[in-house]
Amino acid sequence: MPKDSLSITDNRTGRTYELPIQDGAIRAADLRQIKAGADDFGLLSYDPAFMNTASCRSAITYIDGDRGILRYRGYPIDQLAEHSTFLETAYLLLHGELPSAQALDDWEYGVTHHTIIHENIKKFIDGFHYDAHPMGVFVSAVAGLSTFYPEAKRIEDETSRKNQIFRLIAKTPTLAAFAYRHRVGMPYAYPDNDLSYTGNFLNMMFKATEVKYAPHPVLERAIDVLFILHADHEQNCSTSAMRGVGSSHADPYSAMAAAAAALYGPLHGGANEQVLRMLREIGSLANIPAYIQRVKQGEVKLMGFGHRIYKNYDPRAKIIKLTADQVFDVTGKNPLIDIALELERIALQDDYFVSRKLYPNVDFYSGIIYEAMRFPVDMFPVLFAIGRTPGWLAQWQEMLLDKEQKIARPRQVYTGSPVRDYVPIEKRT
Ligand code: SDX
Repeated sequence: MPKDSLSITDNRTGRTYELPIQDGAIRAADLRQIKAGADDFGLLSYDPAFMNTASCRSAITYIDGDRGILRYRGYPIDQLAEHSTFLETAYLLLHGELPSAQALDDWEYGVTHHTIIHENIKKFIDGFHYDAHPMGVFVSAVAGLSTFYPEAKRIEDETSRKNQIFRLIAKTPTLAAFAYRHRVGMPYAYPDNDLSYTGNFLNMMFKATEVKYAPHPVLERAIDVLFILHADHEQNCSTSAMRGVGSSHADPYSAMAAAAAALYGPLHGGANEQVLRMLREIGSLANIPAYIQRVKQGEVKLMGFGHRIYKNYDPRAKIIKLTADQVFDVTGKNPLIDIALELERIALQDDYFVSRKLYPNVDFYSGIIYEAMRFPVDMFPVLFAIGRTPGWLAQWQEMLLDKEQKIARPRQVYTGSPVRDYVPIEKRT
């Protein structure tokens, strides 16, 4: 009977070691016993950018990149996008099970009644330049929230964690909308508890002089679906930041500010903004071949394409494409969609992209929908952050409750100078 183990022979010493294999992995710590001599620290595993390293055991999200599979707590993403709501999906990610009707009512009530932010945060947001990027405002405001809820430092207290989770899920749309209203010089539109989570977000974003904002149901549902699709994605860059900062037992606001900062990067959640800028730069179908050439020459990336895990089509991109048609029925068709579709058609048949397994990811089509709904391009990463908030919090909480976890502190392979003595300045060449 084959054993779930790895037999390793260290050719430096001729010694053989047997390492257990569990869940398709070996423990990197088991390599430490492999030494070339008595004063040897022991073998490390070297994995820049963690291309092949599991940082944790998690029960939240499952991805099969080769088969384009994404499941939250075992439920396929396409079923959740069709049948669930963002708040129900947030509950699922955080609690591990779909809620009963009563539990969902209680959950929605809790989120709805935490949407207002302290008036001093408005002053904080007012302090930014009018043209401050809303993601910079958002990251700062999330960090600033930690000063309003000092009890959030009690990360070991379940009730405190629950309160901060309610606050962060509830207040991120408010912070996002306030950052936008500051950007466009509009008065802040306060939360309307009569509306759904996404309906209220649209209200705070776009309410003008009407007494009561009425969200368009198709657009309200489209945003809800987009938030579901963005809700979690296992150990991506920003979630790793959430877990890493959270592992020092920093409060969840500070940890989530770090996660949002990581998401801001153009290779991650900032890609949706860059996709729109790329499509605008291309400008017409006729310009696509020249742009593809620039990509092949390594001059630019095809933003919204490629993924560390998905070496097949990102399942979220398929659902977003379907949602786009429903939105365009209301908003009118975004002309950039034709450029995006042609770009995708060309890329999917071009060996440069096929050989590198580059397919549209979640960011390729989302921005086209957001723009059609009159969100400015620099709000796109903020929209991604709202959607990802429950995932970050679920992963943060799972890390805190995981008895195997402790403060994250990777090792290194040192490549610097050997020991040397200090040289007085007069003797330096
Ligand atoms: C998200 O991790 C997650 O789960 C993230 C996310 C989530 O939900 O949290 O899914 C959200 O961040 C989606 C990705 C959004 N980013 C972009 O769309 C930016 C453009 N894409 C990339 O920069 C890139 O594809 C990454 C960052 C997404 C993945 O990069 P990898 O896995 O490190 O792959 P790589 O950079 O090593 O690329 C492998 C090859 C390289 O070519 P060679 O050096 O082998 O010749 O593919 C090329 C890359 O140059 N390549 C691209 C490309 N992406 C990779 N070439 C052109 N255009 C691209 N978009």
